[in-house]
Amino acid sequence: MGGAASHRPPGGRFSHERARTALGRQALTDEPQPSDYHRRMTSIPSQTLPSPLPEEPLAIAAAWLAEAWTLAAQPNPNAMTLATVGRDGRPSARIVLCKDIVVPGGYVRFVSNYQSRKGTELAHEPRAALVLHWDHLHRQVRIEGTVVRSPEAESEDYFQTRPWQSRVGAWASAQSRPVGSRDELIEQLRAAGRRFDTPPVGPDAPIDNERRAHVKVPRPTYWGGYRLWVDAVELWVEGAYRIHDRVRYERTLQTDGQDEFTGGSPWQIMRLQP
Ligand SMILES: Cc1cc2nc3c(=O)[nH]c(=O)nc-3n(C[C@H](O)[C@H](O)[C@H](O)COP(=O)(O)O)c2cc1C
Repeated sequence: MGGAASHRPPGGRFSHERARTALGRQALTDEPQPSDYHRRMTSIPSQTLPSPLPEEPLAIAAAWLAEAWTLAAQPNPNAMTLATVGRDGRPSARIVLCKDIVVPGGYVRFVSNYQSRKGTELAHEPRAALVLHWDHLHRQVRIEGTVVRSPEAESEDYFQTRPWQSRVGAWASAQSRPVGSRDELIEQLRAAGRRFDTPPVGPDAPIDNERRAHVKVPRPTYWGGYRLWVDAVELWVEGAYRIHDRVRYERTLQTDGQDEFTGGSPWQIMRLQP
């Protein structure tokens, strides 16, 4: 048992200063040090990639994503970093949700606002990179490729599967543009709700998880899907003592010149130093 009483000098007056110093020291030694933290949080299972190496890296990426969903150790196992580049060469990155890894097609799907920062950057420079990271599984996937908009019908179908509040939100938010205040944004949301005659929306509206099929909110033309056609993949698994296992796959995409790609040349495989 520690505590202030034990810092009372024998026969002397209680010293706040001495107690503070002693407690401070105790706090320092009781707090987990970074190395303890990592020991507790991770039992690093030295992994290696399958041998022989898989011919189709996207199949492995899709299997790892499915495993992360099953493990349910993080709220959004399909969260991925999307990196784009602006006209001035300035890179930018943000999280978006991976809707699908389409292995036979060779592309990854996500959705967003076409007029957002990422949307305008992709319109100018369609090359982009993705990173998926599953900490609990000690795995990372890096993907590079060329981004094109999904077919309208695909975006349409997907938009209509979204909860009605999210559909209203797509109308209310001019993503990435400045707004005067939070109140102004909420008013834009309410105005969009009024426009489509929805139940009440906004922070003070009752939570409504019902499907509400009668609430018709069309898709704004500036909102939709993207397909990142993959021409490079890196599979990464954590190894002990930082001797991770990394393999990079590269191929050249073939295009029909109509925003559609038809797969590509066979994958070239190279193992990389960690
Ligand atoms: C877990 C998570 C999931 C997200 N999913 C998406 C998404 O699927 N699409 C999207 O446009 N933004 C998503 N966002 C918001 C983006 O990170 C980002 O704030 C927004 O797209 C604006 O980015 P931009 O200004 O660079 O275009 C998500 C954010 C988080 C943290």
